[in-house]
Amino acid sequence: MKIAITGTPGTGKSTVGEILSKRLGIPLYNLSELIKEKGLYTEFDEKRDAYVVDVDKLREFFKGKENFIAEGLVAHYIPADLIVVLRARPEVIVKRLKPRGYSEEKLKENAEAERLAVIATEVFESNSNWKIAHIDTTNRTPEEVAELIERALKGEEVFDEVDWLEDETDCY
Ligand SMILES: Nc1ncnc2c1ncn2[C@@H]1O[C@H](COP(=O)(O)OP(=O)(O)OP(=O)(O)O)[C@@H](O)[C@H]1O
Ligand SMILES: [Mg+2]
Repeated sequence: MKIAITGTPGTGKSTVGEILSKRLGIPLYNLSELIKEKGLYTEFDEKRDAYVVDVDKLREFFKGKENFIAEGLVAHYIPADLIVVLRARPEVIVKRLKPRGYSEEKLKENAEAERLAVIATEVFESNSNWKIAHIDTTNRTPEEVAELIERALKGEEVFDEVDWLEDETDCY
């Protein structure tokens, strides 16, 4: 079983990944840690304070692995049986990320990326035939989100409609 969990920071990828990994008994990979540890990057972006993923190396790492949960901003670049796109209302993204001590600029950037559905659009516009689960985590506990992913794995259609274009994101 290959599961990729993607979404804007604060949508709960790591949290639900851990629950799911325990429930299903398959290994969990946190991609930002993995990319750093295994050198799966092309460079370090000083401005964004982040490594720039080398997608070929990332795919190479997962090639031949049959059971995994990969969670992170770039998880949807990894071929998987199910791609999970987590969503959360932009103001909730801010609430969840604020305790990390992020700057106003970084909070705003993430809330905007979520409002404009940057990652979700990337997934929908990729020409893959992979199965997609699209989950609004705003009013769900991480356990409920894990439950929905398990249902999607069993073949159920799991696809929440969201539209946050009108949302104000001046709540930093
Ligand atoms: N469904 C949820 N309901 C309420 N709070 C949640 C939910 N999922 C995660 N959280 C909380 O939101 C915060 C961010 O969650 P998490 O670290 O899992 O996000 P992430 O998507 O992995 O972010 P990043 O991309 O930065 O790693 C944590 O404090 C977590 O406890
Ligand atoms: Mg995380």
